[in-house]
Amino acid sequence: MNSIETLKRTDLLRERCLVGGQWTNGNSTFDVFDKATAEKIASVPNFGADETKQAIDQAYKALSAWRAKTPVQRSALLRKWFDLAVANASDLAKLATAESGKPLKEAEGEAAYAAAYIEWFAEEAKRMYGDVIPNASPDQRIVVIKQGVGVCAGITPWNFPLAMITRKAAPALAAGCTIVLKPAGETPLSALALAALADEAGIPAGVINLLTGDEIAIGKELTGNPLVRKVTFTGSTPVGKLIVKQSAETLKKVTMELGGNAPFIVFPDADIDKAVQGAIAAKYRNAGQTCICTNRFLIHSRVFDEFTDKFTKQVSQLKVGNGFEPGVDIGPLISQEALEKTKSFIADATEKGAEITFGGRPHSSGKLFFEPTVVTKAKPAMRFFQEEIFGPVAPLYAFEDEAEAVQLANSTPYGLAGYFYGRDIGRIWRVAEALEFGMVGVNTGLISNVMAPFGGIKESGYGREGSKYGLDDYTTTKYVCMAGIES
Ligand code: SIN
Repeated sequence: MNSIETLKRTDLLRERCLVGGQWTNGNSTFDVFDKATAEKIASVPNFGADETKQAIDQAYKALSAWRAKTPVQRSALLRKWFDLAVANASDLAKLATAESGKPLKEAEGEAAYAAAYIEWFAEEAKRMYGDVIPNASPDQRIVVIKQGVGVCAGITPWNFPLAMITRKAAPALAAGCTIVLKPAGETPLSALALAALADEAGIPAGVINLLTGDEIAIGKELTGNPLVRKVTFTGSTPVGKLIVKQSAETLKKVTMELGGNAPFIVFPDADIDKAVQGAIAAKYRNAGQTCICTNRFLIHSRVFDEFTDKFTKQVSQLKVGNGFEPGVDIGPLISQEALEKTKSFIADATEKGAEITFGGRPHSSGKLFFEPTVVTKAKPAMRFFQEEIFGPVAPLYAFEDEAEAVQLANSTPYGLAGYFYGRDIGRIWRVAEALEFGMVGVNTGLISNVMAPFGGIKESGYGREGSKYGLDDYTTTKYVCMAGIES
């Protein structure tokens, strides 16, 4: 039975977009498929530049009333949205599993993670503190206030179709901004369901707008329209660069959460069993399709064989299949293109001398499935040392000393997440500080949570999402100089 038949609230499956408080459809549509079965599950509007402009106008119209609400009022509405997201988490998870392919247990985790961003920013709305600065002359007082940046545009990816929506919309709304969202074409249904719940929560018309359709036309309007003052994007580095270029014309504020190439270093004093557990989590979550998934395992030569044996044994136990089947760990990849890319990494590596210790081929569960794979004798000359794999392939490289491990880890243009396992406290600090990544996991393979600042450096982007820093990206700092105060 597919997901739609098991939804408790069938009205959460929306095939219209939310623009200025109206659920609208257009002249043309595109289909959304279940990634495990290839069945069509819905058709959504194929909107373009005109509808995007209308949505931006609606967001602009709603801005002054929304920003005039007190933080406590905005927080209360966000809290209602959070309550509804929690109450409907099981349906949200089913939609995410159907359209993205991720296992239901992961989608349930994502639904909770997505809701947590709304709750977090409902609280942070009340903490948008300013400052009072010592005055420059006796008749002055200097006050600094934080204000919402204005109309925001959020462009979100398919790998976290729920959490990336709330990670952008919730801080925007908390800061007093309005937003136009464009979810990925592969996974619009999770986003539309969240928009339906925001609408139901009483978030006023025009404050959240959500459009599906032509990504180039919508993207151009969102990045070019002068009413939009901020663009936040999660996705690939090449697309991020394009968005930055397009946004530069009107000097918009931008947040870029882009690609990664995470190293996972295992030092010889690491607890190898724990490192293996962390490695499974950091590599195979969402079939390897997250920006913070391990791309390169760097294992000290002294523990290489032990790690490889234990890791391969664990990988061989991962269950591949339709995400709705109980016990499934690895679902389908998002597209045929993703599958072909994964195959091409394996072909390149084996041609250059790598060995496939486990997996290495498409999986019999369906057209988009790929076996969880372990590759040994990996070398920096292989393509997957520099390129983001975004699939369930784990290349294992050997190293001899700490300096080499850090050098290998940092020799990439990316700088999103890095992980390492070891117990020497001096080395823990040295390596954590030396790794050129925005996020570092020490003795853990799971680093995402709403309390922590998510974001990268180098070509992985800039800006931070979540945490106490997450609101900053949606605010501007205004300095008010009050003079004429006679003593
Ligand atoms: C991402 O891959 O972009 C997000 C991953 C996460 O939040 O854990």
